[in-house]
Amino acid sequence: MLVAGGYGAVGAVVTSALNAWFPGRAVPGGRDAERVRRLGGVQVDVSDPDGFGRELAALGDVGMVVLCVEPPDASIARVCLERGIHLVDVGATARLLDAVAELSPIAAATGATAVLSVGVAPGLTNLLARRAHRDVGGARSVDITLLFGAGERHGADALRWTIAGLAEPVRAAPRLVPLPGFGTRTAYPFPFSDQHTLPHTLGVPDVTTRLCLDSRPLTAALFALRRTGLVRLIGRPRAQRRVARALAGVHLGGDGFVVRVDARSGGRHAAYALTGREQSRVTGLVAAHTARALLDGRGFPAGVHHIDELPALAGLPEDLVRHGDIGLLRRAAPTGGQRS
Ligand SMILES: NC(=O)c1ccc[n+]([C@@H]2O[C@H](COP(=O)([O-])OP(=O)(O)OC[C@H]3O[C@@H](n4cnc5c(N)ncnc54)[C@H](OP(=O)(O)O)[C@@H]3O)[C@@H](O)[C@H]2O)c1
Repeated sequence: MLVAGGYGAVGAVVTSALNAWFPGRAVPGGRDAERVRRLGGVQVDVSDPDGFGRELAALGDVGMVVLCVEPPDASIARVCLERGIHLVDVGATARLLDAVAELSPIAAATGATAVLSVGVAPGLTNLLARRAHRDVGGARSVDITLLFGAGERHGADALRWTIAGLAEPVRAAPRLVPLPGFGTRTAYPFPFSDQHTLPHTLGVPDVTTRLCLDSRPLTAALFALRRTGLVRLIGRPRAQRRVARALAGVHLGGDGFVVRVDARSGGRHAAYALTGREQSRVTGLVAAHTARALLDGRGFPAGVHHIDELPALAGLPEDLVRHGDIGLLRRAAPTGGQRS
């Protein structure tokens, strides 16, 4: 197994969990020759598909790639699926997931399976959305709310993704949402990929994902950027990297996170909430559990699938609760869904 980005905030958790279950079989990959040498990994660059393919060939018997860094396009997924190599992808950018989903006929032909939307958001959000959707007998709308800890040490790639997301246009309004352990918070629409893919996988017409941080001042400051001209400046990659570096030094909160999902249909309402610590770590654990289930071959059809399309992974939240990795999984108190 090759874990691309395998010594980053998410990838290091994947590598170590897989090596605990399958000793010596998970190899971390990244661009830094010195780190790779120290960790006994391989030097790979996900922006160089030809080089990536050569590295796979050199490694020999690679049955699976876990992508823990975002490539520029779907070329790395194509390289894996054409060779019949399974893929687990923690990416959260809708455009890239769509491009990988188009490779499904290739995966079906080679017998490979790709699992997309793996992590906390997308990931656990997709699984809870499916439950809430089922509970109301088919939702007309799903609202996903995330609270992330501003004190967590997020990886550089995840921060870059978040900054880029701030610069994207949004269509929905902020909402006041009660979140277990954090009171009622204003959460702002944010371009997580779950709201883009769930309308297709669940058939729910209206899905919105909103985000807030545990620190109220930092949430207000971050989303105030949207209302100013500054947001246009951070649309540029160099500015994104600068803002990401500045944010990496800010630790105003804790490392707890909350996921809440509300599904509605007519007068019916179902809601689930889940809490945990260190969303990068839990993302890595979701990816590791997914990779393990895929290796075990438990009911995974060939082709490209989002996590919520695979019944074999529906019980993943309970697996994490059993291991103490997420503290709580419960039906949340209903909310009227007030506009803020
Ligand atoms: N689904 C979810 O819930 C979820 C949650 C958190 C994060 N994520 C996603 O997970 C990804 C990783 O986040 P993270 O927090 O772990 O970031 P990170 O700590 O910056 O880790 C990224 C890793 O990838 C390597 N890398 C960077 N560019 C690369 C390239 N071109 N080729 C090969 N390796 C490269 C880095 O090492 P080198 O620089 O040495 O190459 C590093 O080890 C992000 O894309 C983020 O959006 C998803």
